Amino acid sequence: MNNRKIIAGNWKMNLDYNESKELIQNIASSEDDFNSDAEVVVFPSMPFLSVFHELLKDNNVRLGAQNCYVKNSGAFTGETSPTQLKSLGVSYCLVGHSERRDYFTEDYELLAKKIKALLEVNITPVFCCGEKLQVRESNVYKEFVMRQIEESLFSLSPQDLSKVVIAYEPVWAIGTGKTATAEQAQEIHHLIRNRIAKDFGEKTANSMSILYGGSMKPDNARELLAQKDIDGGLIGGASLDADMFAQISTSYSE
Ligand code: PGA
Repeated sequence: MNNRKIIAGNWKMNLDYNESKELIQNIASSEDDFNSDAEVVVFPSMPFLSVFHELLKDNNVRLGAQNCYVKNSGAFTGETSPTQLKSLGVSYCLVGHSERRDYFTEDYELLAKKIKALLEVNITPVFCCGEKLQVRESNVYKEFVMRQIEESLFSLSPQDLSKVVIAYEPVWAIGTGKTATAEQAQEIHHLIRNRIAKDFGEKTANSMSILYGGSMKPDNARELLAQKDIDGGLIGGASLDADMFAQISTSYSE
């Protein structure tokens, strides 16, 4: 397997400019506390990306955007294009976070377009998927997550698909303090990799990084990250604290 270990911090719409700047400076200055084998990525709010790119210039921490539009320019008031993000030094972009699917009604088709638009400018899409509690309890959660993957990712070429990072985030675990058990997470991660292997081959499936997200914290990260098919974490709440974020990054076992 040559998939990357990735520790990603999704700051969502939290922190004002000064607070965000303080956090990014704390992360940048404590670089030695982070696992040097893992790629560390932060996703601050859009308006701060340009300044933060400058602050991270001499650092290994990568910059991510929380959203983008599908077109590269034009009359789309309020939107930000992949090309614009690229020009700010953005390396990663979240696509299909459950909050965007829910509050901004983003559907399979739109997400597939966003992924293609990002790949065209060499930004790594972090494609989020995951089921709500009701779906988990109705026992069709496996089919549900597989459908999210198939509908938004399976029209890509194997080469393009291998550039996408997937984040499995059970919605019932996001911001609730209720983490999926390591077994629950591994079950879905394994299914995702197998499903990709079936259509795109083992090589593509094994080269992809599949992250877990949903109340990942220093005290549960080690067990989650020890699972065979869990390659990293997409961390919300705990990524707003530089120490906790660094601790999670060092929770990989050998
Ligand atoms: P959480 O958020 O770690 O606060 O649960 C994860 C996410 O929404 O990406």
